[in-house]
Amino acid sequence: MFKRLLLLLLIGATADVMAKDYFVSTPGTTMVLTAEVGKPLMFRYYGARADRDDVFSSYRAMNTQAFRAFGTSCVNPHACQVRFSDGDTSMNLVVESVSESEDKGLKSTVFTLRDTAHDFRVRVHYDACTDCNVMKLWSEYVNCGRKPVLLERFMSAALPVKSKECRLLTLAGNHGNECNEYVEDLGAGTRVISTQEGSRISSACQAAFMLGTDGELSEDHGNVIAGTLAWTGNFQLEFINNPFTQDPVMIFAGINPTASAYTLDAGKTLATPELILTYSTSGRGDAMRSFHFWARRHQVLDGTVEREVLLNSWEGVHLDTYEDAMHSLMDGAAAVGAEMFVMDDGWFGVKYPRAKDNAGLGDWTTDRNKLPNGVEGLVRYAGEKGLKFGIWIEPEMVNTSSELYDAHPDWVLRHQSFEPTVGRGKTQLLLDLTNPKVQDFVFGVVDNIMKENPGVSYIKWDHNMSIENAHSLYLPASHQSNLLVDYQLGLRSILERVRKAYPHLVIQLCSSGGFRLNYGFMPYFQEVWTSDQTDPLHRIYIQWGSLDFYPSNILAAHVCRRWSKYNNRYTPVKFRFDVASMCRLGLELVPSDMNDDERTYATRAIAAYKQIRPVVQQGSLYKLISPYDGNRDFASLMYVTDDGNRAVVFAYRMLYTRSMPERVIKFRGLNPEKRYLIREVCPEHEGKPVQIDGKVVSGRYLMTEGVVIRELEDRLSSKMVDDLRQTNDYRSVVLELVAQ
Ligand code: DGJ
Repeated sequence: MFKRLLLLLLIGATADVMAKDYFVSTPGTTMVLTAEVGKPLMFRYYGARADRDDVFSSYRAMNTQAFRAFGTSCVNPHACQVRFSDGDTSMNLVVESVSESEDKGLKSTVFTLRDTAHDFRVRVHYDACTDCNVMKLWSEYVNCGRKPVLLERFMSAALPVKSKECRLLTLAGNHGNECNEYVEDLGAGTRVISTQEGSRISSACQAAFMLGTDGELSEDHGNVIAGTLAWTGNFQLEFINNPFTQDPVMIFAGINPTASAYTLDAGKTLATPELILTYSTSGRGDAMRSFHFWARRHQVLDGTVEREVLLNSWEGVHLDTYEDAMHSLMDGAAAVGAEMFVMDDGWFGVKYPRAKDNAGLGDWTTDRNKLPNGVEGLVRYAGEKGLKFGIWIEPEMVNTSSELYDAHPDWVLRHQSFEPTVGRGKTQLLLDLTNPKVQDFVFGVVDNIMKENPGVSYIKWDHNMSIENAHSLYLPASHQSNLLVDYQLGLRSILERVRKAYPHLVIQLCSSGGFRLNYGFMPYFQEVWTSDQTDPLHRIYIQWGSLDFYPSNILAAHVCRRWSKYNNRYTPVKFRFDVASMCRLGLELVPSDMNDDERTYATRAIAAYKQIRPVVQQGSLYKLISPYDGNRDFASLMYVTDDGNRAVVFAYRMLYTRSMPERVIKFRGLNPEKRYLIREVCPEHEGKPVQIDGKVVSGRYLMTEGVVIRELEDRLSSKMVDDLRQTNDYRSVVLELVAQ
């Protein structure tokens, strides 16, 4: 009795006992929940910014349970289910208290829900940004009892949507073919987007969606809800739609519960990942820009710092990172104007040198046969050339042919009684990051490199195997099914340590290309290797899809050699540079293999990129013509600075067909009242820009009537493929617009 009284007094400090409506708002959006102590939390509205009268007269208003546990209305979809120590699987979650606070541009409203049958609570968080239209929904599961419980389903967020005509956009793909856009009607039933890879979580799909709630999903009009789960492990997004009832569409997002029932010990709390949510009344383009704005300022490490042009050694030499080859690449990189050189896979291993991809992972000691003067010699050489230096590691992995494995065979993920599934080189295994000793080791990989070579400016952190062997030799049997979550918590604690020691060291996240592209990583990484696919034609699609959710400055885009190894396609050097310049430009080139024309063009293109870089890396993105439209022959997008004074437009003729209709490009995001000087950034032939170069045109005209870029329409072949080939396809132009 006394306890209950005390509780009520406490509640009085943070919440009304009577039903109260909580308006959670960003500058342009509002979410409304109603809480009454002892009653379920009710969800009322999510949409355009609204006051009380707007909300409760809106056709979007509802009154449905916001966060249902299995136990009450069991036929309805629920956000969580817990198995208690006595076997009971039912809960009845009611509001216990509400707290509201504001810190660093985030307004937080937290509803503590209490299970009326057990000593168990769920804290449901609704965090709203004050400077952009992004909210973050997540929850904490709190075992207040004296015995462990098993979380069988523990979603981060539940979002009811009042619409029966939804268009759903998701991204799906595979190695070298990431982030293809899929748009579909949300049909009756349940649509699930999930992954079970364990660690290479974005290999088949992204933890992200856009939902047009007016039956369409347009670039610049209509209402859109967009979300992405910031989680480094297996995820699940569910869309449950029964168009034959009045029930709202239910969206659940969280950790994929498959093979992940989580034992939560007495007194412990599990915090779930954040569902990053935005709402727009003006189409998917606006939702995309909200994600970009939020990401650069609040989620990506150093998200507003300019990124440098680098040359990476992988496509040039693969594992043959011999000193003379590294020197030659650095000479070439410096000559064309790159700012950094990155030595990729191949540089390490003493007893088990990394001559092939079946040895050496785990032994992060320089192979002196390849590099007689060590990494320090390369760092020095880079410095002499005016380049920064970066290095590749794959610190979560081990080859069975390594000194690390010889010393610690129990540090890998595998079952003790049968042979593990092996990865690349037929000897690769994952280290067990639930083990604190392994965490120390992985931190030490970065720490040792940096202590031995303080001149290293950049690390490429790779990860080329999924969790095939989901068994830990460290965790007790009672906690085995925590592995897939605890691996991620172990990784997070390593990354926290890395960042404490090296707060601004640039670290690129890589995983067989873009298999780890997810906001859950981005507080620790400045950028992501978008894809191993560097064929520029294919890259247009990969970058286009990635940009739906992620900003340009985190997407590494490298220029491949004139022949792309994955798609076996020859493309002109200008097209390759113009595609890579859409994001964070880099090179996989071997400058010494290029002919003089290519090298001269590369030098001009890099200098030009440095000029437009502030606009490309920090400007607002407007998509103009989708590569998926029509005959898939054309694509165009542009970036505009916040003040509207500078813009950069990219246009690509992907496929030439005789007598094709003209493509009019209507610009967006400009100031209609201003006049813009248009200049081609890097013409194929110096001094011979496209006809529109030098014209001064009003923002209004460019946005309403648009332009046709003749040179992209005419049957002009590009000679700069190689000495023998010419092509009418793969033409491109990059224009800079400067307000006069
Ligand atoms: C996979 C990455 O995606 C490549 O860029 C390269 O770093 C290789 N791994 C190296 O093994």
